[in-house]
Parts: sequence; structure tokens; C-alpha cells
Amino acid sequence: MGRIPDEIVAEILQKTDIVQVVSEYVNLKKSGKYYFGLCPFHQEDTPSFSVTPDKQIFYCFGCSAGGNVFKFLMLKEGLAFPEAVYAVAQKVAVHIPENYPVDEHYLRKQKKKQQVYSVIEQAAAFFNQCLVSSQGQEARKYLQNRGITRAVMEDFKIGYAPAGWDKLIKQLSTTCGINELEQVGLVIKNQQGTNYYDRFRNRIMLPIFDISGKVVGFGGRSLDDSHPKYLNTPETPYFNKRYLLYGLHLSRAAIREQGFAIVLEGYMDVIACRQFGVENVVASLGTALTKEQVQLLMRYTDEIIIAYDADTAGIQATIRGLDVIQQLGCRVKVLRIPDGLDPDDYMRTKGSEEWKKLIKQTRSLVEFKLEVLSKEVTPTSVAEKIAIIEQVLPNLAAIKSAIEREESIKKVATTVNTSWEVVLSELKKWHHGNAGKVTSSITNISNISNTSNTANIKSLKFQHDQKHRNQAEYLLMGLILGDYELFSLAQKELTMEQFQNKELGMIFKLLVETNCKFKQKPAQIMQYLEENAQQLLGRLISETISGQEQSEKAKILADCIKVMQESTGKKRRAQLLQQLKEAEQRGEKQQVNDLLQELQQLFCPREGERHAGRNKAGLF
Ligand code: UTP
Ligand code: MN
Repeated sequence: MGRIPDEIVAEILQKTDIVQVVSEYVNLKKSGKYYFGLCPFHQEDTPSFSVTPDKQIFYCFGCSAGGNVFKFLMLKEGLAFPEAVYAVAQKVAVHIPENYPVDEHYLRKQKKKQQVYSVIEQAAAFFNQCLVSSQGQEARKYLQNRGITRAVMEDFKIGYAPAGWDKLIKQLSTTCGINELEQVGLVIKNQQGTNYYDRFRNRIMLPIFDISGKVVGFGGRSLDDSHPKYLNTPETPYFNKRYLLYGLHLSRAAIREQGFAIVLEGYMDVIACRQFGVENVVASLGTALTKEQVQLLMRYTDEIIIAYDADTAGIQATIRGLDVIQQLGCRVKVLRIPDGLDPDDYMRTKGSEEWKKLIKQTRSLVEFKLEVLSKEVTPTSVAEKIAIIEQVLPNLAAIKSAIEREESIKKVATTVNTSWEVVLSELKKWHHGNAGKVTSSITNISNISNTSNTANIKSLKFQHDQKHRNQAEYLLMGLILGDYELFSLAQKELTMEQFQNKELGMIFKLLVETNCKFKQKPAQIMQYLEENAQQLLGRLISETISGQEQSEKAKILADCIKVMQESTGKKRRAQLLQQLKEAEQRGEKQQVNDLLQELQQLFCPREGERHAGRNKAGLF
């Protein structure tokens, strides 16, 4: 299947009503120019999922899922983009011709991908056979001893890589090239480069699946305590651990149903949990949880329980990871397993009922941090107290529920032995200092685009540091998305590189490239953006600023541009000064001259040529 031509994709979109398609899955109610309903991508009680018919997009204010109708079906039905296009085409009776001119590059890439995954699939099937054959006797015994049932073995398609150096190579020799096997990390070249051997030998093989349940790699566990305990598929373009969570293909329904996900450390913990009826579990693949993995989970829930082993090294690193989850807009809880056990051991020794009880006794991120921090130092001096309070302020600020926040404030106060008023006042100060800072997906631009605009803009005018710049970028994008005239003004003044926020920069670039055409048809260009930018655009479009005088908006825009330009200017200035210093030290006169000239142009534009015609005051 080749790439479907853009004209056909556009035609399909034009004939589609996203409201109708979404209505097949979500009970939508009209409210003004939007439709609202309960989000199908995360658990919620009050509707925060919106569909904007005139823009033909959906966006969830709760979990940030957003995009056009294709994206909706991709997420909802687990389809690839072309599959979603075909599905919609059928609904609106657009015929996609079989023989349209194909995109060779795309075709080649698709074919390569299919080949690669077919190799991995064949290997998985072989390992699986080996486990049930006579070679697999010892492995079967091992699994049995660990109490793993047949059914769960099948759920996870567990296999066995036989001992020997070339069992897999021989088995697949007729269907796969040796280079292909090497490319997916199943075989290794010897040091002389003359021969190949199997990477996985005499190991229990745990296939690692992508979200659709396709095998993309393996974790191989040794049968005894030989090292390393696990050997994993190495990182390849086809196996990227950042984007994978062990067990998610089996657990996503349970995660959505129960409203939270439990993140464990080990493959074996996931397997044991499932066996004992706790199905909403995943494991990261031997590394700290990544942003991408959290985003993956956030398609299904906004609450994550972290259940790492009690002896986890690098508690600080863990904490940083947890902060990231919270900043992404997720509620984080921490489960400490007593007695230094991992979930697998705990369940097998204490029983699954005890484990389920434990899950109910999770602590909030603030509590967890407090415990760790106050273990390091007993907060006696004022400085120590402040140090602890400061570390949890961002977490307090990120708590969505007022009741929960108040509870946490009280806990902080008790821990550092002060009054809750003190903590509250610190929190207020913190808020003040961070006003407008975009720390999480729950902070949306409506915060800065509502009636407090004037106040915000005032502070924008006087302070040009990072956070104001970030604020300015969001505000600016909100303005130009809703107004072609404002877009034209901004286009004259800014380039993509001037955006500190990468996603906003990409959206801006696309706006320029399409000459903001998508103002009328945002749905059409969404698919050209990468995932994060799509979400952001969905959010921005769903929140475009309205209800202000045009002249007022133009003024705000001018201020935003100024903040962005000046902050870029500052950065550039620092760079130039550094280069100047170095050039002087090296005694390179010509370069010193050039740099001086550039510095001058940057700060006295009227004398320079470069900035001619950029007289900001005259613009508005
Ligand atoms: P654990 O040692 O807790 O593994 O490591 P486990 O899954 O509980 O396995 P059992 O119970 O000892 O058999 C946690 C995770 O860290 C990664 C794996 O993803 C493992 O599941 N790991 C661990 C490795 O990748 N390599 C290793 O050598 C060890
Ligand atoms: Mn274990």
C-alpha cells in the first residue's frame, strides 16, 4: 500500500463530519460552538473531551489527546494512519484508487518495517516451540518452580532460547538473511567479523510487545543466577525502549477501566500480577520511566502508581522521574513494598489479597518526598525547613484537587514542624514567582488569556526572563491561530527558531508554510505534525482567544513579539560576547571586527542595515 495522495486525504476530510464519527463512540452534548463528552481516552467523571465542528478537531482538556478525525480513529481503534484514512473513506463513500502514484520512499520504508517485524515474529515463534519441545524441559521446570501457570505463559507468549551458538541462525536460515537477524539484535558478529552467533542462548525468552501486541524485541532471563540476569534486545530503529512499556498491550483495557496504572520494575512482576488478577500493570524496561512512556500511559489514565522495589538505588533519580510524571499532568502515587520484597515475591508469600490491600495504601508524591527528604536531614533549623518546603512546592502546586492540596499542605507543615499558614504562604509566593510558567498540561493558555490579560501583559513588559518568554509564546500562538491579520503581523517579525518551545516552533513553521491556510481547515494539516505538536495545536485551537478588541489583541501580540525578540537578542548577545572574548584571546582581528559589528547591529538596529524595516513601533 502506497502513500495516499494528499488531495484524496483532503477530499475525505472535507466530506467527513468529525462529530458524527466521534458520536459513534462518545455521547456528545452541544454547548455553544463545541460538543462535550466523557473522554474515551482516559477515565473521568465530568466531560472534558471536546469536539469543535467548525475546525473539525477533537481535544481533551483532561488528558491532552487531540487531533483530527483520523487521529481519533487511530487512538480509538489502534489503527495506523492509512488504515484510519481507509476507514473514514468508507464511511463517506470516497473511493481510494488502487493505482495512485506511489511514494517510493514511503513504500520502501513500509516494506522494510514489515520485513523486520516478520523476522522478530519468526524468532518469537521458534522460541515458543522450543519451550514446549524436549529442549525446553529445564526452562519449563524453572517457570513451574516460580509458579507461573500455563495460561499466563501463553498470554505473554513466553519462550525459550536453546543452548548452543547457532540454533536460531539455523532455524531461520531459509527465511531470513543473516544481516536482517543482526539488524534486529538477534545475532552477533564475532570479534574477527568472520562469523555470527545467537545473542540469546539458554534463556527464558520474554517477548516485548508494542501497544498493538506485535512482538518488537525480547528480554531473555538466565535460568540460573549467571550474569547478566537479563539480556535485552539492543536499541535499534525498530526497538526503542523509551516508547515501550512491558505488558501494556494486555493491560490497557484494565487501566482504563480501573482509572489508574501501576508501574512496576520487573517483567516478572507484571507477569505475576496478571496471574493473580491484578491486570492494570506495566513495567518500564529496566530504566527510569521516560516522558514518552508516561505519555503512552496517559492515553488511558491520569493516575499512575509507582511500585518500585524498596531497595531501589538512586532514590533521587526516582523522585525526579516522579516529578516529570506530575508535570505532564498525571497524579502520581507511590507504593512502598515492605520487607524489601518485589511485587512478585510479595504476592507469592503474602497472597494477592494482601497485595491488593497494599495498593489501596499508596502515598501521594508529596508524602513520599517528605519521607525521603526528612530522612536525609531532620528539619530543625529554619534553613532546613525551608529547603524541604521548597522541594515540595511544585508538587503542591500541581495537585488539582483543592481538598487533596489542603491535606498535603497540612502534612508538609507537620513534617517540618511549622504551621500550615506558613506553608500556604510559601506556596502563594511560589505561585506568584511562577505565574504563567507552563509546568504541566493542566496549565493551559486560558490561564493567561482570560481577563487577567492586562495584568499579565504588564508583567510581560517589565520582565523578560525565560518564563515570560514561554508565556509570550503561548499567548502569541493563541492569538495568531484565531486571526489571519495577526498571523501576518507575526510572520513578518518572527521565525520558527525564535520559539523556545519546540512544538510551538513547529506549528509556527507549518503556519508559515501553508500561509496559515489551515485557519479554516486545521484538521487538514494536523497529520503533518508530530504527536506532541498535534496535541498542543489541538489544545490551542480549542482555546483560541476571543472576545477582545482587535486593537487590544494587536497590542498584546506586539508585546509578545517584543518579549520573544528581546529574549532571543539577550541569548545572542551573550553568545556574541563569549565569541568576542575568545577571538580577542586568539588575536583574530578580522573576527573581532565582525563580531563587534554584529553586536552593534543587534543593539542599535537603526544604525545597522539588517534590521531596517523592522521598526516595531510603526507596525501597530
Ligand atoms: P529485577 O531484577 O527486579 O527483575 O529487574 P525481575 O523482572 O523481577 O526478574 P526476577 O524476578 O529476578 O526473575 C527489574 C527489571 O530490570 C531489567 C529488566 O527489565 C527487569 O525486569 N533488568 C534487570 C535488565 O534489563 N537486565 C538485568 O540484568 C537486570
Ligand atoms: Mn523479581
